[in-house]
Amino acid sequence: MVSVPMARPTTIFVCSDCGHVAAKWHGQCPACEAWNTLAEERAPAPRASAGGGGGRGLRAAGPAGRPVPLREVSADRAPRLATGIGELDRLLGGGLVPGSLVLLGGSPGIGKSTLTTMALGLLQGAGRSTLYVSGEESPAQIRLRAERLEGGAAPGALDVPVLAETDLDTVVATIAAERPDVCVVDSVQTLGASDLTGAAGTVGQVREVATRIMDVAKRNGTAVLLVGHVTKEGSLAGPRVLEHLVDCVLQFEGERERTYRTLRALKNRFGSTNDVGVFEMKDSGLVEVLDASARFVAEATRAPGSVVLAAMEGSRPLLVEVQALVSPSELVPPRRVVTGIDRNRLALVLAVLSRHAGVSVGAADVFVNVVGGVRVDEPGADLAVALAVAGAARGVVAGGEDARVPVAAFGEIGLTGELRSVAHHDRRSEEARKFGLTQLVTPETAPTLRDAVRLAFGSSRRPSTRAA
Ligand code: TYD
Ligand code: MG
Repeated sequence: MVSVPMARPTTIFVCSDCGHVAAKWHGQCPACEAWNTLAEERAPAPRASAGGGGGRGLRAAGPAGRPVPLREVSADRAPRLATGIGELDRLLGGGLVPGSLVLLGGSPGIGKSTLTTMALGLLQGAGRSTLYVSGEESPAQIRLRAERLEGGAAPGALDVPVLAETDLDTVVATIAAERPDVCVVDSVQTLGASDLTGAAGTVGQVREVATRIMDVAKRNGTAVLLVGHVTKEGSLAGPRVLEHLVDCVLQFEGERERTYRTLRALKNRFGSTNDVGVFEMKDSGLVEVLDASARFVAEATRAPGSVVLAAMEGSRPLLVEVQALVSPSELVPPRRVVTGIDRNRLALVLAVLSRHAGVSVGAADVFVNVVGGVRVDEPGADLAVALAVAGAARGVVAGGEDARVPVAAFGEIGLTGELRSVAHHDRRSEEARKFGLTQLVTPETAPTLRDAVRLAFGSSRRPSTRAA
């Protein structure tokens, strides 16, 4: 038995939302003010006793470091490990960086294991050494997936070495022994350190797993793809804890039942953020969708309540269909259901529509959906949402019944009913024109939401041409 000095606390209380560490229990987290999120965990043992390695100089008595002028720091650009999955490489800024840690988040069934297995298969096929660590599935299950991929999106998938293991010590030791170029850990929530009493997946464990794996990855120059599940609320478990640790956070989004999925970079030390890649789940793996705009436009319906949004996904324009349904309701308050946009944004759009554009949905239910499982988190989506709702409320097709192409729109809606311009006006317009969407409603063609509604649905009065 290790004897513990009386003064040293043996347990700590960690907030499961923000990772704040407190010495005693609180009903409300002192840091993020969430209720009932503090959970008891054993205080982590001092580093020295955990495996003997490391020696990070935690005690003040250690030797002083030697600061180096930046000019003398060698900054060799390590070659990127391109996975061969174009969209993934682009998001990463050219491929995986040796020794880096990438967190890949997404809800269950979205395709995280598929994407990571594909990446390893392609890398293995290109002569890199890889390792797939799974704490979730048996080697047999992983093989079945690899068989599907081998014949399709990722030849080489069957050559990837796997380790089905949940014990963190074993995983760390294996990475250190094998020293692969690239390693996937699927998932961070299923591994656990035996010296922590908390169950796998608790904030303390998740942090420990990420820290120890990062440590061994940096020492061996292994690039690690860490898979993380997203909770119902849409955040990675222990989000803030992991986000500042890792070099890059990728989020896989979309509906499980749909075929389209988007991969988004939320944080990237080696590239740009807010870029998006679009994938389609096929029988033999994920396939990049390079002509997403063309597909969404071709699939767009010509019915009341449908408008095409010229969105920006990072640096790329993307045309997506926004659909709305307005239907009588007995519920008080009526339903406001959104998929792919922010719910509060819809509330604002509805308020401005009714107050400044003469379109009231009253006590009806309102549903808004971005088709294809795409999420648009930008104010530029406001106008398309408003026009879709207006069309649905009035039962008229935007652009007129006999227009051959859908109306496209983008622009932010201000509280006084004005339309505000958004970034990349030209690129959005260009994308719309490229796909034959000649009826474009923007802050430049309609200065107010009222003008925009007139422009899209026609009226006896001509739209204001103030901006022209
Ligand atoms: P998976 O990658 O296991 O999701 P996650 O790891 O994020 O939980 O796969 C999700 C779904 O994709 C699963 O229901 C099976 C399906 N799938 C295909 O449609 N085609 C394929 O080639 C593969 C491997 C899976
Ligand atoms: Mg999985």
